Amino acid sequence: MQAVGVIPSQKKVEIIDHSPPEIRHDDAVRVRCLEVGICGTDREICTFVYGEPPEGSEYLILGHESLGEVVEVGAAVKHLKPGDLVVPSVRRPCSNDECQPCRAGLQDFCATGEFVERGIKARHGFMTQEYSEHEQYLFPAPPSLRDVAVLVEPLTIAEKAMAQVWQTQRRLPWQRADESSKQPGAGLTAVVLGAGPIGILGTMKMVAEGFKTFVYSRSRKPNPKAELVEAVGAQYVSALDHSVDELLAMAGNIDVVYEAIGVSSVAFDVLRVLGTNGAFVFTGIPAPKSPIEVNADEIMRNVVLKNQLILGTVNADAQAFRSALVDLQVFLDRWPEAIRSVVTGRHSVEDCHSLLLDKSQGIKNVIRFD
Ligand SMILES: NC(=O)c1ccc[n+]([C@@H]2O[C@H](COP(=O)([O-])OP(=O)(O)OC[C@H]3O[C@@H](n4cnc5c(N)ncnc54)[C@H](OP(=O)(O)O)[C@@H]3O)[C@@H](O)[C@H]2O)c1
Ligand SMILES: [Zn+2]
Ligand SMILES: [Zn+2]
Repeated sequence: MQAVGVIPSQKKVEIIDHSPPEIRHDDAVRVRCLEVGICGTDREICTFVYGEPPEGSEYLILGHESLGEVVEVGAAVKHLKPGDLVVPSVRRPCSNDECQPCRAGLQDFCATGEFVERGIKARHGFMTQEYSEHEQYLFPAPPSLRDVAVLVEPLTIAEKAMAQVWQTQRRLPWQRADESSKQPGAGLTAVVLGAGPIGILGTMKMVAEGFKTFVYSRSRKPNPKAELVEAVGAQYVSALDHSVDELLAMAGNIDVVYEAIGVSSVAFDVLRVLGTNGAFVFTGIPAPKSPIEVNADEIMRNVVLKNQLILGTVNADAQAFRSALVDLQVFLDRWPEAIRSVVTGRHSVEDCHSLLLDKSQGIKNVIRFD
């Protein structure tokens, strides 16, 4: 069976001949992979800075953003049947009895660091013709999402981030008078940093929640990413044309910042202008570099005097996968063309080397196995 993987000991990225999966547990599901998205994490694993094969294997199969179709189910599988579309989650709990988050099924908060991640850390990923998985880690996708469900996993970052923001911003009861509101961001302003796939999906989430949304990113207008975010009702502002203070003048009080840029200098400059009672969510993971200068006194003064909240988030819990599936349908109903155009290329397995190793092109590239 064909799979795409890395062999860290030989510093190679290869199409690997991998044994087909078997149903080894009653709750196991055998899944035919339809599409796998490629992201910065896969590309970094291909530079061998991290990425760990499973114990006993020389290679690690890549791929953690996936859509598949059920082909076989174990005797105890309750909710899935052959033909169903499924999206798998990525992180699996550690085995430490004392790890309360993992024991509570919230391995995204694992306290020991001994969690494993499919396609990243000590478990094979989904960039393969078939895989098997426990039912509890597979989320059913309706057939209407066939074209876009490969975006569920990258959307879970915004889903978890906003769930955390709303949970924490309960400290501001006047902002959420109606707990069941589908538009909790109505009357509030959000800034999304970065217009890569994480930023674009985060922008859709913010606009769908009712925020007046600005996207602050690099490339000058016109460009396809700016057109895409403006098509869903956000305003794109290029960092090459506008300073952070100009962004603030356009936005007014900034209630939420969703950082999806991974550039600390820009992120901390925007943190400096976060509004009163605002929340700043970091999702970017910058590579280690020399220290940078930030106006720490101004930031610290603001954080205190403006009751600001700063939180980091790594994806994601089961609830984030469920809400990403719900929101993708919302995006598809509201902006069918825009959400479909986030996937800018569908490629065969043979293209894996250029997709993983050459300069990244487009927004989200996908390898298809169907
Ligand atoms: N927390 C998590 O669980 C998690 C999971 C996955 C990824 N991430 C992180 O999320 C971040 C975004 O991922 P992505 O795949 O969307 O990344 P990406 O495709 O590289 O997009 C980055 C965006 O930021 C913009 N940008 C880069 N440098 C800039 C600068 N100096 N000033 C203004 N804008 C700048 C880029 O502009 P151009 O369009 O002009 O290039 C691009 O639009 C990454 O840091 C990644 O590590 C986090
Ligand atoms: Zn990814
Ligand atoms: Zn744990």
